[in-house]
Amino acid sequence: FRRHRRDLPWRKTRDPYAIWVSEIMLQQTRVETVISYYPRFLEKFPTVTSLAHAPEDDVLKLWEGLGYYSRALNLHKAAGIVTDKLNGQFPRTAGEWQSLPGVGRYTAGAIASIAYGVRAPVLDGNVKRVLTRLYAIGERIDRSETIHRLWQLADELVSPRSPGDFNQAMMELGARLCLPKKPLCEQCPIHR
Ligand code: ADE
Repeated sequence: FRRHRRDLPWRKTRDPYAIWVSEIMLQQTRVETVISYYPRFLEKFPTVTSLAHAPEDDVLKLWEGLGYYSRALNLHKAAGIVTDKLNGQFPRTAGEWQSLPGVGRYTAGAIASIAYGVRAPVLDGNVKRVLTRLYAIGERIDRSETIHRLWQLADELVSPRSPGDFNQAMMELGARLCLPKKPLCEQCPIHR
């Protein structure tokens, strides 16, 4: 991953706020689309406090075109909670992140592992595909038993040394090599 990763704007920062914003934008939205919105958003709202104090309409304005506007409303609301209730201190563990509006298990794991090096798993569509292929899981992936098993596998696998890089490597594998229709198995580092 360190050798082959794409050079994405949110991979140049260790600022939990900036990583949080990227993970919210990346929910249900393609990387290519997020790239054009992300810098503008951070320029207008560079800190969690600036976002918390902004009028809701200004936040929605910058979100225009990204879709799923409840994400913007939840992010704004959560910024208010961090600023007012948590004294501007970000959560650290995945569990604490998950208590903020708009932050589910996947996003909490991503933020905690990438920003704080916490050992927590992520499971998005890409990671599900990698894991079902790696473990030859043939069950329907919309069954709750299957999803439970996949979370368990993802959790067992996360590297304790570099959980953030490990998680992003799994997402990157799914996005770039472990493609839904034409997987590039010959180039896959876990082919063997
Ligand atoms: N999708 C969601 N989070 C991501 C990340 N950090 N890198 C690449 N794709 C992602």
